Amino acid sequence: MLNKWAVEAIQPHVSLSVEEVEALLETPPSAVMGDIAFPCYVLAKQYRQSPPQIALHLVNLIQMKGIKAETVGPYVNLTFDRSYYAGYLMEQLQQSNDPQTNIGQGKKVIIDMSSPNIAKPFGIGHLRSTMIGAALYKMYQTAGYEPVSVNHLGDWGTQFGKQIAAYKRWGNDEALQENPIQESLRLYVQFHEEAEQDATLEPEARNWFRLLESGDEEANRLWEYFVEVSMQEFNRMYERLNVTFDYVLGESFYNDKMGAVVQELKDKDLLVKSEGALVVQLDDEGMPPCLIMKSDGTTIYPTRDLATAFYRHHVMKADQILYVVGGEQKLHFQQVFAVLNKMGAEWVQDCSHVHFGLMKFEGKKMSTRRGKIVYLDDVLDEAITRALRVIEEKNPELPDKYKVAQDVGIGAVIFGDLKNNRSNEVDFSLDDALNFEGETGPYLQYTYTRTQSILSKSMMIEQVDAEDLQGMQEDKYIEALGDSGWALLKLLIRFPEQLKRGVHNNEPSVLARYVLDVAQVFNHFYNQERILCEEEKLRKIRVSLTMLTGQSLQRTMHILGLGTPVRM
Ligand code: ARG
Repeated sequence: MLNKWAVEAIQPHVSLSVEEVEALLETPPSAVMGDIAFPCYVLAKQYRQSPPQIALHLVNLIQMKGIKAETVGPYVNLTFDRSYYAGYLMEQLQQSNDPQTNIGQGKKVIIDMSSPNIAKPFGIGHLRSTMIGAALYKMYQTAGYEPVSVNHLGDWGTQFGKQIAAYKRWGNDEALQENPIQESLRLYVQFHEEAEQDATLEPEARNWFRLLESGDEEANRLWEYFVEVSMQEFNRMYERLNVTFDYVLGESFYNDKMGAVVQELKDKDLLVKSEGALVVQLDDEGMPPCLIMKSDGTTIYPTRDLATAFYRHHVMKADQILYVVGGEQKLHFQQVFAVLNKMGAEWVQDCSHVHFGLMKFEGKKMSTRRGKIVYLDDVLDEAITRALRVIEEKNPELPDKYKVAQDVGIGAVIFGDLKNNRSNEVDFSLDDALNFEGETGPYLQYTYTRTQSILSKSMMIEQVDAEDLQGMQEDKYIEALGDSGWALLKLLIRFPEQLKRGVHNNEPSVLARYVLDVAQVFNHFYNQERILCEEEKLRKIRVSLTMLTGQSLQRTMHILGLGTPVRM
């Protein structure tokens, strides 16, 4: 909102569009220098003067009630008259309880997220995809889109032939029910070990996969069984993270939809034979060829993604498709998008690979191959146990302390991921993630409980509502807010702008940094001003600001997937 007024003050005097001016606005390095800064470098051409001269010139032109313009070198700094704006901004915030920016206008965005592989461990990449995807889902929803989440399970491929062959030889039902992933993995490892001595195993596996593809009853029953037991384990994980999906459509769902894609590729003369396999050449894009069909006639991962993209566009009617998948699959998605482009699917420009970096735990790389697996369940359990330990120490009488420990432990893990720019590598440390004084989930939760405890104390004095602020003298605001309250108020009104930026970049960390700022600035306000003071008017303004902060924290934390206990 302040940005909007700043643009109104400046734009009529410069040869830049509203958007251009808005994009140039900065926050001055120190609050005493003003609320918003406008750098004049880009105007050098228009004015044929040096930026500081232009700044001087502009300052004389800017005439808007309640805004003071000054130069600081090449900058025009604007200071908003708090007595004029503070009350208005608070009223605005109070009225827009649900500040949807509605940039989405109902557009449907399919979010391909989580997507683990059946009979394989739920990896750290799947965890990041789940958390980032879930946050994007709520961000898009808040921005007025219609998000649709799809869990694109890896539930098809030749490895299921091996899985069945191994199960038939050495399978143990009890172990499989009890520990589906570990047992599946054991079978898989045993298969590869024994296949080195026993030459009959590989053909046996190939035969099982052939049977599976041709609809053989036993093969399909066993496959379904593997899917079911793995899903039980994955679902437990989703429940703990409080994530749900609109659709679970595994790769197998597209089995009968790939033929049409292969046919279309043929019709469009895009398929080339290469060492017995069929590929689409992508040299003109500077990429290796995209493999469509193996020499034995089986289709593979890229073919499935092509069929999937068509289905999402034509049948599910997606306006946009996001693939929340690790950065190691960059080439895969570049190839798939390039093939779609060659096929004339101009909507491929609305598909994006929302990639993310690796995550290590306490400096250790996650590896599923060599058995050095960090189990996510263990990480979550440990986080909850440690959260509970802190609660037992600081607040042993807390009711629902187990529920609170869960919110805190899981929130710590989620926020420990989301606060990072998604493309960065994350070295996750439980100690850091659980530090109540760091940039963490627990710090946010603690700050939220602080707002709620102030509000419940204030309820014992009086009920404060929006009407109380109407007609309040303007100078009361200046006194009640102080510098820290004004800084907080300016931050609170920036939510729609931050949401927009987060959506635009598919970057939950934008909101994560924002909510940390809100918490930090609120804590500063709390230390500077006595919120529940004697003077009624000051108290009402401060309590209102605390209420607005609590709402803001809660809203943003929920978007990111964090619980907000009222006490802890
Ligand atoms: N199952 C794949 C894996 O674990 C991820 C799938 C991502 N989604 C997609 N449409 N390819 O690597």
